Amino acid sequence: MRRTYDVVIVGSGAAGLTAALKLAPHQRVAVLSKGEISGGSTRWAQGGIAAVLEATDSIESHINDTLVAGAGLCDKQAVQFVVERGRDAIESLISLGVEFDKSGENAHEDGYDYHLTREGGHSHRRIIHAADATGKAVQKTLNERVLAEPNIDVFENHVAIDVITNRHLKNKASYTDQAHGVYVMNLNKDRVETFAARSTIIATGGASRVYLYSSNPDASTGDGIAMAWRAGCKVTNMEFNQFHPTCLYHPEAKTFLITEAMRGEGAYLRGVGGERFMLRYDSDRAELAPRDVVARAIDSEMKRTGVDNVWLDITHKNADFVISHFPNIYRHCLGLGIDITKDMIPVVPAAHYTCGGIDVNLDAATDLDRLYAIGECAHTGLHGANRMASNSLLECLVMGNAAADDILAREDNMPPPAIARDWDESKVTNSDEEVVVSHNWRELRRFMWDYVGIVRTDKRLARAKRRVDLLLSEIQEYYGNFRVTGDLLELRNLVTVADLIVRSAQKRSESRGLHYTADYPLLGEDARETTLIPFNRSVTDRVE
Ligand code: FAD
Ligand code: SIN
Repeated sequence: MRRTYDVVIVGSGAAGLTAALKLAPHQRVAVLSKGEISGGSTRWAQGGIAAVLEATDSIESHINDTLVAGAGLCDKQAVQFVVERGRDAIESLISLGVEFDKSGENAHEDGYDYHLTREGGHSHRRIIHAADATGKAVQKTLNERVLAEPNIDVFENHVAIDVITNRHLKNKASYTDQAHGVYVMNLNKDRVETFAARSTIIATGGASRVYLYSSNPDASTGDGIAMAWRAGCKVTNMEFNQFHPTCLYHPEAKTFLITEAMRGEGAYLRGVGGERFMLRYDSDRAELAPRDVVARAIDSEMKRTGVDNVWLDITHKNADFVISHFPNIYRHCLGLGIDITKDMIPVVPAAHYTCGGIDVNLDAATDLDRLYAIGECAHTGLHGANRMASNSLLECLVMGNAAADDILAREDNMPPPAIARDWDESKVTNSDEEVVVSHNWRELRRFMWDYVGIVRTDKRLARAKRRVDLLLSEIQEYYGNFRVTGDLLELRNLVTVADLIVRSAQKRSESRGLHYTADYPLLGEDARETTLIPFNRSVTDRVE
């Protein structure tokens, strides 16, 4: 089965849908989602979106805060590019219908009357939000707009497998390599289809599910990063995986975040005996220090005192204030027997955000012609060694538009996609050992947590690398022999991403931002990115 579009977008989160809406008046667009349309991280975002929205704040201040959090590794041009477009991005969401919380006070000088909250690293209140469920409001509005667009077709339960490049073409061309669409597993029909396109956008979100404990939904398995890597694209800074300091610790809560905005509104972190331990780790910023600092402090306190969690305490604030600002967290915790207006919340850090990713320029273009990457899967240089809270949805919106702008500017010079060979299943059978997939999945996430987590050492990374190598070869063999399934595809991508994370971490002999190693606890003199370049594109293909 072959379908042809002007643009195929892999991913239906904030990044993918933003690009789709901008392209739709001019081009035929397919949006793929491997589960339901709201299955990515966007739907779960709590705190909000960072942008300069009131008179006492400034673009320079937002840029400066981002650079400080990024620990010397942000690309200043990228930071400026994204931050300067913040206000426009928010205004277009408002015009699409997103209802952000109002302050209830008089409008600011410039006409804005939105409540702005604070999060770690930000020196101003600049986080616009919809209570504590901003992502839900954004995703819902974007879904409604996209589903109403006649030029956009949305394909749920469609898992992209690989980018189609010149080596997949019927007539192998000798000209520069290009992207021509994607091979896709249609889970509804249990068959692989070809989506041919003049331009391809990867918007698949992050890879935090490579760790045992994560704030992310199941979809965050790094598929797009692995696909781009196999297609020959560079990836950068994969060692910088952000751990969110405060995920709910409860046997019945699978993954549930307690937003940093709660600390922004005055909540304290407490350890054994009720001590506000952050004052010992960062006396000035305390609970609002950047996430790497807070997550490491929690990790160290848990290890020092031998407890399984620390506590977040907002009981000193007025109960009505707490319930009105954090209604969803209040309800969720109450359902588990925790009344956050009276009880402290047990919390632990969990893998949250992939700062590195597919290398792109400010048009969101990768180094493979006609292939773009946007949102959490991409590395623009905005986040450096540590993403500042609420800068990521902003990046999704700005870079979604940037990709669409570049595609539209190149529209007249983009030929139709070349004809790719069909997917070939004649040499594979159904798996008789599904246990290999589930076992390797568990093993991978466990050792990534134990050996490549918040605190690393050379020895732990070497242990992880040996295990990754073994899994890579086992899964590659399995992939070569058996028909693909959704789980196998995700595992194959997770192992690839784990390999990229470990190799990047091994290249960094210093502690910087989110990468902390006990063997090199100090910051190095030179701030350098870790860029990995694929040297071998000859991976197993399943084409005729
Ligand atoms: P996602 O929203 O993750 O969407 C990825 C899409 O790709 C999904 O549709 C998925 O189905 C699809 N996909 C993946 N692989 C495939 C494949 N192989 N084939 C087809 N489709 C595929 N950021 C902020 O700025 N502010 C916040 O307040 C905030 N809070 C957060 C709270 C939580 C709990 C989490 C998990 C994250 C939060 N973040 C926040 C981060 C932010 O939500 C994400 O970085 C952002 O939503 C990523 O958007 P995206 O469009 O790149 O990807
Ligand atoms: C949060 O609300 O704490 C998450 C914000 C973010 O990850 O940007």
